Amino acid sequence: MDPHPDPAGTPVSPKADRVENTGPPCDLYRLAAPIYDACTTLWSGRAIWRSRRCQIENMAPGSRALYAGGGQGRAAIVAARSGVRVTYVDRSPAMIRIARKLAKRQAVSMDFVQADLMDWQPDVPFDHVVANHFLNVFAPPAMRAMRNRLSSFLGDAGAMHVADFRPLVGSRLLRALQRLHHIIPLSGCAALTRNAMHPIYDHGLEMERLGWTPVRIQDHRIWGLGPGWYRTWQFERMRQMVDGSDLPPRSARIGRRKTS
Ligand SMILES: C[S@@+](CC[C@H](N)C(=O)[O-])C[C@H]1O[C@@H](n2cnc3c(N)ncnc32)[C@H](O)[C@@H]1O
Repeated sequence: MDPHPDPAGTPVSPKADRVENTGPPCDLYRLAAPIYDACTTLWSGRAIWRSRRCQIENMAPGSRALYAGGGQGRAAIVAARSGVRVTYVDRSPAMIRIARKLAKRQAVSMDFVQADLMDWQPDVPFDHVVANHFLNVFAPPAMRAMRNRLSSFLGDAGAMHVADFRPLVGSRLLRALQRLHHIIPLSGCAALTRNAMHPIYDHGLEMERLGWTPVRIQDHRIWGLGPGWYRTWQFERMRQMVDGSDLPPRSARIGRRKTS
């Protein structure tokens, strides 16, 4: 039985019931799916896990969250266990199989959708859209198209959560090391899954230009060392006052900036 009263969304085009409808007709994550979380945990010294985990404390029980490109599903499962109504969407059958198995083992219910997010459309708006280490699989134009599409799935007061590599920080030497830390897994993923090669995205800068305020920023250190090369952003829309001037979202006044 569907655990949630709301339907999990529909494909927007007649061809959308095909699973792989924008890429090559194979599961690009077939080989990467079983090892993805273990590899990223090791490479990031658990920073990737913390970059996903910290978002959940800002999601109220009963709120609706979309996990876009949810991968092995661990963060989505923790969110669902804390009472969030989760819709998990991923286009890889191998990833979905793993996520379903984990959710079943933990007796957690959430909606699973196997679809390409460029073709899928939810039936009702979400309170949270979560894009964890997802936008960085795309080249810049596709990343922007996907990001804009995902943010259009939110209600007016909704929050967009993004976890990714942190924009370059520190001395020239540190920046060079940070670039290397980014390019090595990106190249590995490009070979295995045909992800795009690109510089580190500055989601904060881009989202602010689009009228979104970063209400929370958290940086995550590798094995507890260094300046923190992984970042989690929570964005909310600027609100318009009656006189037409911009008012930051209420939670922006909390101004939280943390390192874990
Ligand atoms: C790099 S993994 C990130 C997984 C997970 N979000 C995490 O935090 O580790 C990217 C995921 O996005 C999925 N994906 C890539 N392109 C997609 C698309 N167009 N629509 C839906 N899922 C997609 C892949 O199958 C993969 O599971």
